[in-house]
Amino acid sequence: MKKLVYLLFLFPGHSAIAQKIINIVPAPAEIKTGRGNFTINKETSIILEGSGLERVAEQLNNYLQQNYGFTISVTKIPAKENTIVLNYERMDFSLPGSYTMNITGKEIYIAGDNEEGVFYGIQTLIQLLPVTAEKNGNNNYPLSIPQLSITDHPRFAYRGMHLDVSRHFFSVEQVKKYIDHLAAYKFNTFHWHLTDDQGWRIEIKKYPKLTAVGGYRNGTIIGSYPGTGNDSIRYGGFYTQEQIKELVDYAADRYITIIPEIDIPGHSSAAIAAYPQLSCFPNESSQIPANTAWAGSREGKQVQQSWGVFEDVLCPSEYSFKFLEDVLNEVMQLFPSKYIHIGGDECPKESWKRSAFCQQLIKEKKLKDEHGLQSYFIQRIEKYINSKGKKIIGWNEILEGGLAPNATVMSWQGEQGGIAAAKQNHDVIMTPENPFYLNHAQSNHEDSVTQGGFNPIENVYNYEPVPKELNEKDAKHILGAQGNMWSEHLKNEKKLEYMLFPRIAALSEVLWSPKEKRNWEDFEKRLPGIFQRLDAANINHSNAYYDINATVLPKDDHKGIAWHLQTKTKGYVLMFKDEMETYFTVNPLIIERESHSNDTITYTGVLCKSYPDRKHSISEIKQTFYLNKATGKKITLANEPSQNYPGDGAFTLVNGVQNEKGLLWSSEFLGFSGSDLDATIDLGKTEELSNIKLHTLEQQASWIYLPSTVVASFSNDGINFTGQVELSKRTKNIFIADLIKGTNARYIRLFAKNTGIIPTGNPGSGNPAWLFVDEIEIL
Ligand code: ACM
Repeated sequence: MKKLVYLLFLFPGHSAIAQKIINIVPAPAEIKTGRGNFTINKETSIILEGSGLERVAEQLNNYLQQNYGFTISVTKIPAKENTIVLNYERMDFSLPGSYTMNITGKEIYIAGDNEEGVFYGIQTLIQLLPVTAEKNGNNNYPLSIPQLSITDHPRFAYRGMHLDVSRHFFSVEQVKKYIDHLAAYKFNTFHWHLTDDQGWRIEIKKYPKLTAVGGYRNGTIIGSYPGTGNDSIRYGGFYTQEQIKELVDYAADRYITIIPEIDIPGHSSAAIAAYPQLSCFPNESSQIPANTAWAGSREGKQVQQSWGVFEDVLCPSEYSFKFLEDVLNEVMQLFPSKYIHIGGDECPKESWKRSAFCQQLIKEKKLKDEHGLQSYFIQRIEKYINSKGKKIIGWNEILEGGLAPNATVMSWQGEQGGIAAAKQNHDVIMTPENPFYLNHAQSNHEDSVTQGGFNPIENVYNYEPVPKELNEKDAKHILGAQGNMWSEHLKNEKKLEYMLFPRIAALSEVLWSPKEKRNWEDFEKRLPGIFQRLDAANINHSNAYYDINATVLPKDDHKGIAWHLQTKTKGYVLMFKDEMETYFTVNPLIIERESHSNDTITYTGVLCKSYPDRKHSISEIKQTFYLNKATGKKITLANEPSQNYPGDGAFTLVNGVQNEKGLLWSSEFLGFSGSDLDATIDLGKTEELSNIKLHTLEQQASWIYLPSTVVASFSNDGINFTGQVELSKRTKNIFIADLIKGTNARYIRLFAKNTGIIPTGNPGSGNPAWLFVDEIEIL
């Protein structure tokens, strides 16, 4: 075994350079820093020079009370010093919300182009207040604020965040907090996804069963789709119309418009469960996917308990249109927003295809096909909404079969829908899944269940909402962008915060700050300040920004493996820690281990603020290596794994890493759909062997089945293989063969037969089974 060289370095403390960082997010358009400070104390007063600013002043006072335990007087009588003056000034920016701010030793002067501008000025001022973890304490003032001047204005008219309250419900108080977060980062739109297959959340007086029946489901699948079971807990909730009015007002006080979404004609299982006539097949029971663990009755129309897309959608009948007009009347009464979001996404066409009524309608209306029917559906609803003086927004699928004449398109399946719509002179809001689905993981080794892929904060920060493909005229149709927060895996507010922060800060800068001001390195300098403020406010956030990236590679000579550590975080120290808790660093940050007859070793990568401060790690990554004769050796596969589960190629099977987190860390597996594993390992020289193991996965709910047989054979030339032995399942997912004494070989071929088409009565029956393998051990 190669001896490790432990090189110990001494690192300087990181705080030596005391550079003043003005921690404002989103970054203002222009900022000039000065010298000295202004101090807010109990004697400071707010002077209202402009009219109608009482509410904004009160919001500042509420903040001071909550965080520092005091308020200051609000008056219209001018004073010479120790004042916060709120006023209006005309500013020449095209969008509402611009403001200017000047902080001298004597006063803080904030003037907005309108009330909204003053409000944003106050949000900026709040970020300049010192951070404190002591709420309601008496010892946090006077509050010292740096002297500076700012001129600021928003880049985009539409600065949105979305929240799905159907998959999981959030209370009125929780939604208020969410709105507070949006306001703090100068968002002006809250897209509220109120209905879906898993629950209808808005009271509609004319159709009480929408919430009484459609507001509740009998259980929820456990984990990712299709789930490892069902919790069998009745789940639901809804907002009364009074609560909705309260939230609309609450948001308006923070210059946020709520756009309600009633998702049609797909994603309507909850409405159909309440009023089965909305389906083209009212007498058929809901289709429940074969691999879904279900709670309660399967008879009749059901509120769905798992995630995904369901075939039973709204029928384009006169009953449905009357229903929707009634529902929309109540919705439009409740929400002053000029936009109503009507969904339009992911509407399968199967039930329309087999419905005689739909086929007749297609003929009658001379529509091309079911996509034409979708367009007919949306256009009828648009006409109705337009007749009430409002406009529709729909997901990009409303492009199918032809856009409704005045629709605004929300582009979620990449940018193409948005580009096409802008070229057709329609307004567009960019919300591409990658990177604006903030329910996707921030870390590439996330331990909690999340939906979708990996959307790190840098990708959010660096996304440009105006596609290069658009000319200047069409680009004007990009109203802005939005982050989406789907709640399949957001069971509580802490998880919601964890997914939201700090990416919402990155998104705010995309939406607010001038394009030329956007600078990732500068944002990185402000991130620790963001974390400090979130911690002080007891807001949960992800620390994925500090993630250590660890990679396992074969050694160049294929005699073992190398573990590489990397961090993108500057100003911190990355070290290794061994099993004896010894910290060490090597340059470059690579540890190599030779393949071995049988050894297990665990290392931890640790990111610390400074070398002596190693006890206070900011991020850690731990990895156990199971070293054996196969570790790091050359390996070839006769069949490639599926593109969906490629792991790190064949090396995945001999990298010394054994999966411990199941599918949560699916990149540790190779997945074969319907096909077999056929691997050959070259040990480099003939060795005596005693034991062979194959590590697999069984998760039938996800159609992952154990192999039907596993056999090994041996060779010294890599051509002629003999001495076939069968490996048998001994522990849960591990197939093992003990070899007779004197088994010598250089090449080992391992063949694991996929169980094939899944038999009737099992999850996924009729489909090819998945075979998942993660490691081969040769001892
Ligand atoms: C969507 O994610 N179905 C809009």
